[in-house]
Amino acid sequence: MPGLVIVGAQWGDEGKGKVVDLLGERAHSVIRFQGGNNAGHTIVRGDETFKFHLIPSGILYEDCNCVIGNGVVVDPRVLIEEIDGLRRQRVDLRGLKVSANAHLIMPYHLLLDHAGEAKLGKREIGTTKRGIGPCYADKAARLGIRVQDILDEKILRQKIAAALEPKRLTLREFEKDPRLDMHQMVEDYLAYGQRLAPHIADTPPIAWQGLDEGRLVIFEGAQGTLLDIDHGTYPFVTSSNTVAGAACSGAGVGPKAIDEIWGIAKAYCTRVGAGPFPTELHDQLGDRLRKAGHEFGTTTGRERRCGWLDMVALRYSARINSLTGLVLTKLDVLTGIDPIRVAVRYAGAEDATFEDFPYHQSVLHHASGEYVDLPGWDEDITGARTLEELPANARRYLEFIEEQLGIPVVTIGVGPARDEIIWTDAAASIAAA
Ligand code: GDP
Ligand code: IMO
Ligand code: MG
Repeated sequence: MPGLVIVGAQWGDEGKGKVVDLLGERAHSVIRFQGGNNAGHTIVRGDETFKFHLIPSGILYEDCNCVIGNGVVVDPRVLIEEIDGLRRQRVDLRGLKVSANAHLIMPYHLLLDHAGEAKLGKREIGTTKRGIGPCYADKAARLGIRVQDILDEKILRQKIAAALEPKRLTLREFEKDPRLDMHQMVEDYLAYGQRLAPHIADTPPIAWQGLDEGRLVIFEGAQGTLLDIDHGTYPFVTSSNTVAGAACSGAGVGPKAIDEIWGIAKAYCTRVGAGPFPTELHDQLGDRLRKAGHEFGTTTGRERRCGWLDMVALRYSARINSLTGLVLTKLDVLTGIDPIRVAVRYAGAEDATFEDFPYHQSVLHHASGEYVDLPGWDEDITGARTLEELPANARRYLEFIEEQLGIPVVTIGVGPARDEIIWTDAAASIAAA
């Protein structure tokens, strides 16, 4: 016991970082399995705030092995900056390992991400412009540069030349950009290789060891289920599989290594970037949620779009991830709102209704939530540490969600700080494994 997967159950920024940080204290290892520095996790510890983009959220514990798995795309410049930042905050980084098979974000991936969005104009995805999509595209095209390649100058040079060849036409507008200077790129990446060398490793055996010893191994997802490249709101998605199944391929373990799968969801919904959002609020309530929940992106500082909790999407997420438990964060943000609305089905064009998440893009674009209203509460809940300490209406909200999903709410966030959380008995027994 147990392999535990943590995934975002909505559109990202659900509070995964905080949950993984809390569980990390007892874990043998925390392994990121997909995404890159498009992710942004904020962890508040006493007076200190930590922001991670690439480094797994278990890093604040000396005894935890923190692994950037093979499924992650790594911008080495960003990783080194993060390592240096954490050193300044006196964090011990000896447990940090980076898979030699992870793919590297190269300067041309950043340029291509910018150019791709500019070309789409009004139809842009609203990417984080970190080069994520173009890097995964090269991986699939077998033109990727991997972490192991920056330890060998000859291989690195050959692989960069091969990767640039088919991109010549698209990159022509950047011909004079110093970031595309071949000599400089090779120099820079070799230097990154030297800096990262102590961390580069064959990483699946780290997970295997923890699992064989019966210790807690956490597979940390980034983004959220509805941003999954296959199962999300394509094309308004990220370029990796964000669902729980990806933990296996992205970390190097088989499905039997997974015992528990927790989805993290906010008590409402947010989304950054473009794409359908059936429960979005365009009014003052949306502004209120944004303000109360500090809904501004950790990575890009963009305003997050806000809306009501969407049970159609959450039921889909529970199914597609095989969730065994739900962590509901930011319940405190709903304090003072009455009634609280929850979407239980969608209304579509021509009076159609949908109980299940529609697979078709055009249907989803026209979908809007049909709601039930639940009574709110006014009491400050940030001090609650047990379910019994919550107001009756807050407990009713949680019970409603459990009934809709058919899985238990295992943990509840009642504020941003570490201790502002309610652990149920089920969650505590896993955390204590
Ligand atoms: P992640 O990407 O899923 O790790 O989430 P982010 O860190 O991007 O966004 C979640 C934000 O909500 C962070 O600023 C957290 O500090 C904050 N947060 C997490 N849990 C809670 C909670 O229960 N209540 C409140 N008010 N804030 C929370
Ligand atoms: P965390 O891990 C929220 C969104 C972007 C954009 C789409 C594609 O903090 O939850 P990309 O740069 O990945 O090609 O952008 O995905 N996106 C996120 N939204 N949280 C994230 O990560 C995100 N990572 C990417 O806003 O809509
Ligand atoms: Mg985030």
